[in-house]
Amino acid sequence: MDAIRIYGGNCLKGQTKIQGSKNASLPVLAATLLINGTCEIENCPYISDVFHMLRLLESLGCKVTREENLVRVDTSQLSECDMPADSVGVMRSSIMLLGALLARMGSVSMEYPGGCVIGKRPIDLHLRALRRMGVEIVENEEGFCAQAANLRGVSHELPFVSVGVTENLILAAVLAQGRTVIHPAAREPEIQILCEFLQSAGAGITGIGTDRLVIEGVQRLHPVRFHVPADRIVAGTYLTACMCTGGRVFLQDAPCQHMQSVLACAESMGTRIVCEKDGILVSGRACKCLDNGLVTACYPGFPTDLQSLFMVAMALSGHSGWIEETVFENRFRIVPELCRMGADITVQGARAYVHPTGGLHGAIVEAKELRGGAALVVAALAAKGTSIVTNRHYIDRGYEDITLNLRELGADIELA
Ligand code: UD1
Repeated sequence: MDAIRIYGGNCLKGQTKIQGSKNASLPVLAATLLINGTCEIENCPYISDVFHMLRLLESLGCKVTREENLVRVDTSQLSECDMPADSVGVMRSSIMLLGALLARMGSVSMEYPGGCVIGKRPIDLHLRALRRMGVEIVENEEGFCAQAANLRGVSHELPFVSVGVTENLILAAVLAQGRTVIHPAAREPEIQILCEFLQSAGAGITGIGTDRLVIEGVQRLHPVRFHVPADRIVAGTYLTACMCTGGRVFLQDAPCQHMQSVLACAESMGTRIVCEKDGILVSGRACKCLDNGLVTACYPGFPTDLQSLFMVAMALSGHSGWIEETVFENRFRIVPELCRMGADITVQGARAYVHPTGGLHGAIVEAKELRGGAALVVAALAAKGTSIVTNRHYIDRGYEDITLNLRELGADIELA
């Protein structure tokens, strides 16, 4: 069955290693298209979103080999610039291939991308910004054809911050003619990681880590070997598992420097955090009220991807609290499921109000998207009795083996 069974109530203790970052490996894999030759990507997570990306690269003519978490992508025989609809349809980050393919092949046709069902997730801004760089785009009901004889650098003043648009423009700009400025650029760590990968391959990028990226186009990039850092959202998932159940866990490789807003929130809720050289030590249950609520924002603000996990921690804290979602408009899909487990949460517009209850109980609940699914697993760890979380495939999009990692931390959990 496509589900996870959890016997709740164990206090977590132990150590687990945090996998490589999903949201960093996807654009880095897309970026290999810009490099003629073989790139080696280390610490690439074993998750279905990465498999889809590798399949897309193969369908374009790349030779892909994989030895555990080392992926080699040889792009010297690129042949196709039409992407298979079934993979594009399931993964939003397939849009990332657009900028890279235009730079390498000059044309591409694809269907509109998919991804988690967390709001409208349009691609209007991607297309508008690429048009300004000389791309001709013809849209139809299912998708679009894009062509660029010569990509040219321009100054982009974007109407809002977008991770995907920033990544796509970086990929279109590194081999374009002249200078591209992206402002305001997203500052998420995954953007910095993409820029560092491209820089190591010879790209001219300055302003990394700021909201103004300046890219001087170069003639060509050279193959590199690159290590993908650990996933801050996966680390945040196991952090909240400890916040909800109590205990003491060490998250090996967790990127403390990229988790400041999350760690500050966990500390305000009463959990003890110690950042060490090689990971984060987490101890104690979250049992305090978050006085000023929790508002999601672009980096360095609180990440929308951990919002539903902190909602669970809030529901178990014994206090009232509220969460405001400012990035995606449909990210409270977990609320009815949590209420079936005994939570008391009401949603008004972009705010969810969490009221204290006597704790959660086991239930059969349905994952409706990736992070919400992981949050239901975490809720079940702290609930009384047995739970089943269905639609495990959503969780597999982003977690290598959530049951194994949680078992290492002492949870009673298995595939069902
Ligand atoms: C990326 C992450 C996702 C994370 C999100 C915000 C990956 C693979 N995914 O998603 O996990 O939750 O950043 O940190 O890295 N928008 C438009 N038009 C566009 C593009 C975006 O209106 O053309 C809107 C979106 O609907 C959303 C907002 O902009 O409301 C921000 O989205 P964006 O930052 O682009 O998120 P993604 O890149 O899709």
